[in-house]
Amino acid sequence: MSAQPVNPNLPPDHVTISIDGVEMAVPKGSMIIQAADKAGIPIPRFCYHEKLPIAANCRMCLVDTEIGGRPAPKPSPACATPVMDGMKVFTRNDKALKAQRNVMEFLLINHPLDCPICDQGGECELQDLSLGYGRSVSRFVERKRVVPDEDLGPLVATEMTRCIQCTRCVRFTAEIAGTYELGGMQRGENLQIGTYDGQPLMTELSGNVIDVCPVGALTNKVYRFKARPWELIARPSLGYHDALGSNLFHHVRRGELLRSVPRDNEAVNECWLSDRDRYAHEGLTADDRATVPLIRDGDGFREASWDEALDMAVRILRESAGDALGVLAHPATSNEEGTLLARAWPAVSAAATSTTASASLTSPMAPRPSRLPCRWPRSSRPMPSSSSAPTCGMKCRCCTSACARRPSAGQRSTWSIRWTSTSPSASRPSTSCRRRSWPRPWPAWIWAMPCGLR
Ligand code: SF4
Ligand code: FES
Repeated sequence: MSAQPVNPNLPPDHVTISIDGVEMAVPKGSMIIQAADKAGIPIPRFCYHEKLPIAANCRMCLVDTEIGGRPAPKPSPACATPVMDGMKVFTRNDKALKAQRNVMEFLLINHPLDCPICDQGGECELQDLSLGYGRSVSRFVERKRVVPDEDLGPLVATEMTRCIQCTRCVRFTAEIAGTYELGGMQRGENLQIGTYDGQPLMTELSGNVIDVCPVGALTNKVYRFKARPWELIARPSLGYHDALGSNLFHHVRRGELLRSVPRDNEAVNECWLSDRDRYAHEGLTADDRATVPLIRDGDGFREASWDEALDMAVRILRESAGDALGVLAHPATSNEEGTLLARAWPAVSAAATSTTASASLTSPMAPRPSRLPCRWPRSSRPMPSSSSAPTCGMKCRCCTSACARRPSAGQRSTWSIRWTSTSPSASRPSTSCRRRSWPRPWPAWIWAMPCGLR
């Protein structure tokens, strides 16, 4: 083979190859399957996934290659064979097709023929490819192997007999989730995929193993047996349960939201989706979903109209002006929500109270004490003993703000003032003053919030 580049006009980090007679320039070091994908030339695959490291263990992507006019002695896996200058690749000649069909026959030896009852039916990569490469009759008369199911928790359903051991799920937990939870146990025909410790998946990205699994071994437990993919209409949307704003599709059937799946966006969530965003739609139809305002009534809640609830909120805000007013922000609050809260809260607190004596009215965005963290030891607390004590008056050691809390008559005060200002590097911008062992100081409307915030 000549050391001269086939096309001298190409940049030095590119090479010229031809796939099925289509000549193209591709970056050095890329794999044949990547070049083919770019050119829109289909090559069957199961274990290859563009976001996961290459494993090359299914062999479905075998292609015929020729370098310098010399054919390769045997088919090469397109996902693990780097391109070379002057390489010719044949994905559809007799040699390649025969190799692909033979691999498919081997894959189907142990795969059960349960497509009609498999939840992956209609969106199964094995089902699709077996239509093109599979035989209608199996030559294997031996018993198929049966693999016991794994309990991967409440979100991911398993049918491990269907597993073709592509290890996409294993590589996902190792390389993307970073939790190394799944692995291949035993070897050869006895290889089984499961968690190393036999425990359910703990990663908050566990739902993605459903997407990467090319067969029906890992399916969505929540959506199980509810619909077939061709019944669903995909509505593009955004995830709203964290500050990422993942792109997703809601799959809807006749107005009923049945599942959420990721929508590719390289700048945001790539092709992944967190479990919160994937399964949060269940809350829409949850029995305990608060669809009307609830007002605390004794130990329970009673339903109320919006007018009544808003009137009550206004009244409570007015009556509780001072230290009893506070605002709770969830640590997963997005930047936008935090900013809105910071803008809104001073206005609310100013409307509710005419003084700024309460230290707990500090806006999350207001300047925070610099010394961290400060907690009053119980022993050094001055305890107001009766309702005659107007307010605590105790000063925080860090910020010297005075505590304006007022204990009820006859009640032994067991409260503490605690400034938990976070360091500049911490992710929670919360400055809170919390009372312990105290009758719930929060107004009823906070306890009735549908998001469950407490
Ligand atoms: S469970 Fe699915 S993704 Fe995991 S190895 Fe088996 S076939 Fe591949
Ligand atoms: S896709 Fe290439 S070996 Fe599996």
